Amino acid sequence: MKVAYYTIMGNTKFFAEDLPFDLIELDPYTTPQKENDDFVVMIPSYGSGIVDVVADFLDFEDNKSRCKGLIGIGELSYGDDYIQDAKELAKMYDLQIIFDFENDHSQELKDKVTEIIKAL
Ligand SMILES: Cc1cc2nc3c(=O)[nH]c(=O)nc-3n(C[C@H](O)[C@H](O)[C@H](O)COP(=O)(O)O)c2cc1C
Repeated sequence: MKVAYYTIMGNTKFFAEDLPFDLIELDPYTTPQKENDDFVVMIPSYGSGIVDVVADFLDFEDNKSRCKGLIGIGELSYGDDYIQDAKELAKMYDLQIIFDFENDHSQELKDKVTEIIKAL
């Protein structure tokens, strides 16, 4: 299992780098690659920009069929827009949001996310 992530300010990258999984960094500048392993997508929300990049990755070859779920990172202060980008992708691709959280660098949270991904 791999973790495909997108980051703008670095929080998601720092979090993902502490997980015991190989990583795929998604960004607008890199051509998507065919993925041969199962993966989860871990993304923050900004309301624009991220969804299209992740969609390009999922649409490439049969990548979507290897996506086992989404993990949304956001801030509850955004109210109804909390993890809105993950919610939009879940709807677009009929994927489950397997976990969501507000940014937190605790080992406890990293262990929990690791456990959830390993159980997929
Ligand atoms: C301009 C801006 C817009 C944001 N919009 C949302 C949002 O709509 N929903 C949400 O849950 N979090 C929102 N956030 C919070 C980020 O998703 C959150 O801080 C996340 O941890 C950033 O991850 P990153 O450092 O990997 O980019 C926003 C943050 C910024 C700075």
